[in-house]
Amino acid sequence: MVVNPFLSEKDHESVFTIATQNLKFGVGALGELGADAKALGMSRVALFIDPAVAPTEPADTARQSLRAAGIDVAETTDIKCEPDSAAFDAAAKFAQGGDFDGFVSLGGGSTIDTAKAANLFSSYPDDLLAYINAPIGRGKPIPGPLKPHIACPTTSGTGSETTGITIVDLTDQGVKSGIASPRLKPALAIVDPTVTASMPGGVVAATGFDVLTHAVESYTARPFTSRARPDGPAARPPYQGSTPYNDIGAIAAIRIGGRYLKRAAADASDLEARYQLMFAATLAGLAFGTAGVHIPHAMSYSVATLKHEYVASGYERLAPMVPHGIAVVINAPAAFRFTAPVNPERHLAAAEAMGADIRDGSNETAGDILAGAFIELMRDTGLPNGLVDLGYDEDDIPALAKGAFAQQRPLIMAPREVSEADLAEIYRGAMRYW
Ligand SMILES: [Fe+2]
Repeated sequence: MVVNPFLSEKDHESVFTIATQNLKFGVGALGELGADAKALGMSRVALFIDPAVAPTEPADTARQSLRAAGIDVAETTDIKCEPDSAAFDAAAKFAQGGDFDGFVSLGGGSTIDTAKAANLFSSYPDDLLAYINAPIGRGKPIPGPLKPHIACPTTSGTGSETTGITIVDLTDQGVKSGIASPRLKPALAIVDPTVTASMPGGVVAATGFDVLTHAVESYTARPFTSRARPDGPAARPPYQGSTPYNDIGAIAAIRIGGRYLKRAAADASDLEARYQLMFAATLAGLAFGTAGVHIPHAMSYSVATLKHEYVASGYERLAPMVPHGIAVVINAPAAFRFTAPVNPERHLAAAEAMGADIRDGSNETAGDILAGAFIELMRDTGLPNGLVDLGYDEDDIPALAKGAFAQQRPLIMAPREVSEADLAEIYRGAMRYW
């Protein structure tokens, strides 16, 4: 595998880009929302708030801050966790009627993604599949700039506040897919770690595992130099593979997440741990936003879509479903065992950053060591013991693998080529871990 850009062959990529994100981080940052919205030219905003967050203090802080800045606010809490096409339609309708010049979202990835979709579909109406990534959708480019959107995450997970992606559950097709465009990136992300203080431990665990997994995925993704050289700068893909820039954020996020996830999940009053996990989430979001994710995420969509039987700790108020972070990490140990033989040194570095002892590590054991680090942390935080705990068995493997294989956009970022049969084997390995 080519890792040195100076040695890359003539027809290989030798350039990477860094797409910056306006972001503020810190205790009290949410109180600056109104001033920030005004600075972005907003006078009437559509405020999307997670229904669980709406009655809490952070929601009041956001409303008061907007009002104090003289901004008109129309609020909606009509947000579905893991949104589907009907949820996106409803959000677009809300946005169409309101004469808004800006969007604010306060919630987890689902809330932020819903606001992105509302912004898109109210600005450039079309059917949902038009913008969904090919081959599931038609992959139509977003025709022009969207209205400014300030994303304020209340979970330390998805990183949606720094990415140009929105994910939707296409229930009729049994797949999750997304719309990806730099135009979907929020104009500003406001990350205030105090907003996670009221989050149940189970939610912190699920979202924290999303952070760890996409950080490891972006760190172990195929190097940008392994792609074919694009015809021109415009043809360079938004997901480039691992680059020296993304590596910095990813490895730091793995280190911080590995150190603080257990504490943050166990104790809501452990503000230091929750602060650190939120920072890890921010770093990881910036890293995978341009490097991309690969097999565990590609596999997560069919896990989240095919069965809705599981009730995760912290999600009891919702209809049964597999939270995104759990759908992702449940595949991670098996997937990293599969990818480790191609770049074992990176898998070992990730395991070490997570806190594993790698002194006896070798190229042959790298996958097992990294898988072991994930499994230990999953056990310690009360996560399900593999796909069986989510209601899946051997008979589901063909359907799971078919759904995952359709996710070519992340799959092509894997360090190793992966067939539908390989995915079936990985799912088999993810059935039960201990
Ligand atoms: Fe994720």
